[in-house]
Amino acid sequence: MTTVFVLNGPNLNLLGGREPEVYGTATLADVERLCRQTAGELGLTVDFRQSNREGELVDWLQEAGAAVAAGAGIGAVLNPAAYSHTSIALPDAIEGARLPVVEVHISNVYEREPFRHHSYVSAVAAGVVVGFGVIGYQLAIRGLHQLRGS
Ligand code: DQA
Repeated sequence: MTTVFVLNGPNLNLLGGREPEVYGTATLADVERLCRQTAGELGLTVDFRQSNREGELVDWLQEAGAAVAAGAGIGAVLNPAAYSHTSIALPDAIEGARLPVVEVHISNVYEREPFRHHSYVSAVAAGVVVGFGVIGYQLAIRGLHQLRGS
């Protein structure tokens, strides 16, 4: 079965309790369930992960790129969280691994603080889903699936 990777950056393990007025009340486990449901409808399997460490995310992006190159994956849905606004290593990994990525943000980062208005990842993403709450992950999986024609 073909895999869609769903990779989550720092502090997303706190979803549900973390600023619920911004991120809602769904937990990361709820998000994983939503992703598995959507992927299942598309005949895909999900590899769902979260890390608070930038280097671990880099390793996973490289791993996902290798899976895509081997024909075992369609790409990654990535919520880089705060690393969106700071990391050069994440877009370098995405480009280096030739990994198709749809970037997701739960909140509408453009109605928030100015430092959240720029993401280094967006420049190398195939698409970006912003501000739909956790439903954005489902939209991103569907979008990636369509883009990849799989
Ligand atoms: C976020 C937005 C980021 O600015 C923030 O640092 C996050 C979550 C979102 O999903 O809305 O941790 O990526």
